Amino acid sequence: MRNASVRVLAVIVFLAGVFAFFTSNGQAQSAAETCKAKCAMCHGADGKGDVPMGKKFGLKDLASPEVQSQTDAQLNEMIAKGKDKMPGYEGKLSKEQITGLVGYIRGFVKK
Ligand code: HEC
Repeated sequence: MRNASVRVLAVIVFLAGVFAFFTSNGQAQSAAETCKAKCAMCHGADGKGDVPMGKKFGLKDLASPEVQSQTDAQLNEMIAKGKDKMPGYEGKLSKEQITGLVGYIRGFVKK
C-alpha cells in the first residue's frame, strides 16, 4: 500500500512538472512567434530595426534606453494604439498577447 501511494505521488509530481514546462514554454514561444509574424518586418527579429523597413522609418533599437525607460503601461499603449507609421494592434492581438510582447521586448536587453 505504501509503495503504491509513493508511486502515485511520483506520477503526480512528474505530470505537474511536465505541465509547468509546456505552459511556460508555450507562452514564451507565442510572444516570440507573434513578434516574428507581426513586428519583425519593421523592428527586426531582435528588435534592433536592422531591416529595410526599420531603416526606412529610422526605428530605435527596442533594447535602447529610450524605449526601455518607458513603463510597461506606456509600451502596452504604444502597441495597442500605435503611433504614426506604427500600426495599432488593439483588436488584432489580445491584451495578454500585447502584455507578452512587452515582456518579450524587455527580454531584448538581457542578452
Ligand atoms: C509597419 C511597421 C511596423 C510594424 C509592423 C510594427 N511597428 Fe512598432 N514601430 C514602428 C514605427 C514607425 C515606430 C515609431 C513610432 C514613432 O515614435 O513615431 C514604432 C515604435 C514602436 C515602439 C516604441 C518604440 C519607441 O520608439 O519609443 C514599440 C514598443 C513598438 N513599436 C513595438 C512593436 C511591436 C511589439 C510590434 C508587433 C506587434 C510592432 N511594433 C510592429 C513601426 C512598426
